[in-house]
Formats: sequence, C-alpha cells, structure tokens
Amino acid sequence: MLRETSATRYVAPLREGGSLPGIVEADDLGTYVMKFTGAGQGRKSLVAEVICGGLARRLGLRVPELVRMSLDPVIGRSEPDQEVQALLKASAGLNLGMDFLPGSLGYDPLAFRVSAAEAGRVVWFDAVVNNVDRSWRNPNLLVWHGDLWLIDHGAALIWHHNWQAAGASAARAYDASDHALAPFNPDVATAAAELAPRVTGDLLAAVLAEVPEAWLADEPGFGGPDEVRAAYAEVLAARAASVHERITLGPPTPERGSNAPGWLTAWPHRKPEAAR
Ligand SMILES: Nc1ncnc2c1ncn2[C@@H]1O[C@H](COP(=O)(O)OP(=O)(O)OP(=O)(O)O)[C@@H](O)[C@H]1O
Ligand SMILES: [Mg+2]
Repeated sequence: MLRETSATRYVAPLREGGSLPGIVEADDLGTYVMKFTGAGQGRKSLVAEVICGGLARRLGLRVPELVRMSLDPVIGRSEPDQEVQALLKASAGLNLGMDFLPGSLGYDPLAFRVSAAEAGRVVWFDAVVNNVDRSWRNPNLLVWHGDLWLIDHGAALIWHHNWQAAGASAARAYDASDHALAPFNPDVATAAAELAPRVTGDLLAAVLAEVPEAWLADEPGFGGPDEVRAAYAEVLAARAASVHERITLGPPTPERGSNAPGWLTAWPHRKPEAAR
C-alpha cells in the first residue's frame, strides 16, 4: 500500500508541468510534488502514475516514492493564482504525491551519459507501459546525486482510455526512435531477458493493489475495481512478454524520420563504450 499523508502547506506551482503539479509539504515533514485529481488530465493520469511508478520501482528502476496525499483546499488560501485556487478546490480529498528530489536537474543528454544497459532497461520499460512522454523534447528524467530518475508517467497506458481496443493495443509496436535515451544504443534485448521474467502475476497484483479503489470505481464495462485491475494486469503481462520484438530503434529511415537535432543523434558516434 502507498503511505498515507496529508498536505499541510502549498509551497509553489510547478509551471513547467502541463497539469500544474504543485510543491507541497506534508504532515510527515516531507516535501512532495502533488498531482491533482482535479487537473484536466483526470484521475486516469494518476492511475497511470501509480501503476508505472510501482512497476518501475519493483523492476529496480529509480522512481521517487509515491504516496497517497489528502488535500484540504484551505491550505492554498494564500496562493494568489486563480488557476491554482480552482485546481485545489476541484481536488479536495485524495490525490497523489511524489517525493520531491531537492536539487535534482532536468536530464541533459550533453551533460549526462547513460550506459547501453541502463538505456535498454528504461526503453524496454517505456515500451511495456506505452510511455510516449520520454522524448528528447520532453524527457521526464531527472538527474539526482549522479543517478537517473524517472518521473511523469501520467500519459502512459494510453490504452486505458479505450478498453474495448486494449487487447489490440497490447500487440502494438513501440517506436523509440525519438526516445530521450535512443542515442545511447539501448540494449533492449538484454533488458527484456532480465526484466520480463520478473513481471509475474504476483508482481502485477502487488502493483495494482496500490491503485486507490476510488480511482478504479465506476469504470464503464467493468463490475468493480478488481475487474479493472485484472484488465490492466492482462495487457501489461502480454506486453512484457513480447514487446521487445516490436521496439523500433536505430537510425531514422525515409519512412520513419527522427526529428531529433543532429547534436543529439550524433552521440552514439562519440565512443559509447566510455558511457557510465
Ligand atoms: N519528484 C520530483 N522532484 C523534483 N522535481 C520534480 C519532481 N517531479 C516533477 N518535477 C519537476 O516538475 C516538472 C513537472 O512535473 P511532471 O513532468 O511530472 O508534470 P506534468 O504536469 O505531468 O508535466 P507534462 O507537462 O510533462 O505532462 C518536471 O519537469 C520537473 O522539473
Ligand atoms: Mg513532464
């Protein structure tokens, strides 16, 4: 289960995030990035955060700790921004918090090299969860104390917006040619051999148990939260088993051009064996 916390002070909005997450302090004296149920992206983006964050952490990838965070909108009373006020009012009750990494830097491919092994694990994981939000334009990666951390999985699990077609989506390919780590020769085959066997039914059940009941209730076409959990597990298990055969990497072709600028795609030519 995710730990329960309660927001005690709204510190500041994070304006670079499209969903207007906020930095908040909580009753456990921690500082968190709070993602709001009242944001335009809706509660499904929070469900995606919980599932992807839980899966990644269990596979040994670094994602800051996620917590359940209750909100009394009164804590934002002194916040002058109307948009923030409206967001807090629309988000009373249960929301999601992510441990704030103080002093972390947004990932910069020119300043931080990633090994082919680590790049492979991240690309493979993103393929399993259909993460379209890790491109070189918007990497959603942080560097903290010399390590790479994954954030922002709200746009992943794209298929949960249309369950009827989810089975077909499970078989769909993953185009990683614009992935932020594509220039580091990701070793996807080794990552899949190492990680896919770890995505067992028990592991998925543990991940899905962390999704708050209320965020799975009333899903059209399902008899209750446990049926929804089973549907997530089915798609994730299917993708974990074989998606490595359908990941597109490598140099752009006329049919599938990379839009990444030359300074970025030039990386692999600069001695990848020296990568950390
Ligand atoms: N745990 C964290 N620790 C430190 N900074 C963070 C953390 N999480 C997010 N940030 C900062 O806040 C920004 C916005 O967060 P995030 O990308 O999760 O929000 P979003 O609204 O989903 O964004 P997007 O516009 O990419 O969809 C990040 O780019 C990063 O700079
Ligand atoms: Mg983001």
